[in-house]
Amino acid sequence: MKQFISVQDVTDINQLVKKALAYKADPFADRHLGADKRIGLLFLNPSLRTRLSTQVAARNLGMEAIVFNVDKEGWALEFEEGAIMSGSTVEHIKDAAPVLGQYFDILCIRTFPSLKNREDDYSEMFIHQFIRYAGVPVVSLESATLHPLQSLTDIITIQEDLPLRQLARKPKIVLTWAPHVKPLPQCVANSFAQWVNAWGEADFVITHPQDYELSEQFTKGAVITHNQDEALRDADYVYVKNWSTFNDYGKIYENDPNWMLTEEKLAVSNQAKVMHCLPVRRNVELSDEILDSTHSLVTKQAGNRVWAAQAVLASILQHQ
Ligand code: CP
Repeated sequence: MKQFISVQDVTDINQLVKKALAYKADPFADRHLGADKRIGLLFLNPSLRTRLSTQVAARNLGMEAIVFNVDKEGWALEFEEGAIMSGSTVEHIKDAAPVLGQYFDILCIRTFPSLKNREDDYSEMFIHQFIRYAGVPVVSLESATLHPLQSLTDIITIQEDLPLRQLARKPKIVLTWAPHVKPLPQCVANSFAQWVNAWGEADFVITHPQDYELSEQFTKGAVITHNQDEALRDADYVYVKNWSTFNDYGKIYENDPNWMLTEEKLAVSNQAKVMHCLPVRRNVELSDEILDSTHSLVTKQAGNRVWAAQAVLASILQHQ
């Protein structure tokens, strides 16, 4: 693997899942693979799981991991080609990225969207500029439109749980919109849709209120409905996530609390397991009764972030 910014960087999803689960069973199997190698984790935005799980994964492979909170500790970066830097930005990515590429064997970066300009966000300029100028493999720790380490984790978690359910059919996976107090990126939902569609081993339904359509480039292949109750019928896995509007970009039109998943709503499902990437706003996005019940896979999911990151980093190291 040369880089990891979307599912398109993966040749075989099931093989990558197998590799991750092998690391879960034997975390130090490749403890020398990353010996004398250094990984840089650059954060332009906050994180708990992504930051710590990637550090743990790197350490399991024998790498030295260095975290740099660019937003708080670094110079303000300029990403625009040809910018006249007379404003607040201090250092151009053209200058910063090649320097970082000298210090690290792999660079990982988290860079959220602005939610102000859809064209800019969906061009993924920030992460593409890093790739262009760093000269070393780049791993997305969540970019403007996608969160591939989360989605790999999600597929791992579903595949791990599937044998326990003994289904005689493909699993039904539902991605449902949930209320939130502020506009959030579409990254997790886009990415989950992209990975489930690419995996191709599920009946996939997306449900959301009117006007919360996601980009077709990620959802194509899924059944899309505004009827959440209908979507939940016979569901085996329900992935809960808020996202802001895509068409009239980055807005909250409505925050109908009726979209929050409850035990009562889940009654029509096939004893569905419930997933969320975390952090979650309890009793806004998801009810306590679900999060604290045996339905919830959220802690297992977050734990699996280590094995997803380890499988990706190992694949990159093995390619170098
Ligand atoms: N799910 C996820 O990416 O969590 P963090 O934002 O805490 O890294």
